[in-house]
Amino acid sequence: MMKSPRGSLQWITAGDIDFCVTRIDGAVRVVEDRCPHMAVPLSYGAIEGCVVTCPQHRARFDLSDYSLVTAPIMGGGNREAATAAAAPIDPEAAARAARRSQMMASVRTKPLVVFAVLQRDGNIYAILPNEA
Ligand code: FES
Repeated sequence: MMKSPRGSLQWITAGDIDFCVTRIDGAVRVVEDRCPHMAVPLSYGAIEGCVVTCPQHRARFDLSDYSLVTAPIMGGGNREAATAAAAPIDPEAAARAARRSQMMASVRTKPLVVFAVLQRDGNIYAILPNEA
């Protein structure tokens, strides 16, 4: 078992699963410690109230209902497209920029992987899906 030293987001590893654990209004919340956008550990992010911000592209998730609050902020494709649009016409560069923008726009943010929690005898247990 390993714990993150940062704030109120705790990284705990058990077996081959990384968990991100926090308390919201006294209730323990456990999600997989992988951003559902590109798998960056959420425990490296920041939490404000019940909203955790991914450290990579700043997607924000509400841990009270596990909803996506703010979509990831992706710079590469948009910046490349803007540069190509502002520069003298280079058809190959414009085509590459358009393809990259299209690719980045198609990246999806899946729902958080949420674990039910059982508290017993002072211990906290994350219930794995096949244990429910
Ligand atoms: S990896 Fe988390 S927002 Fe992109």
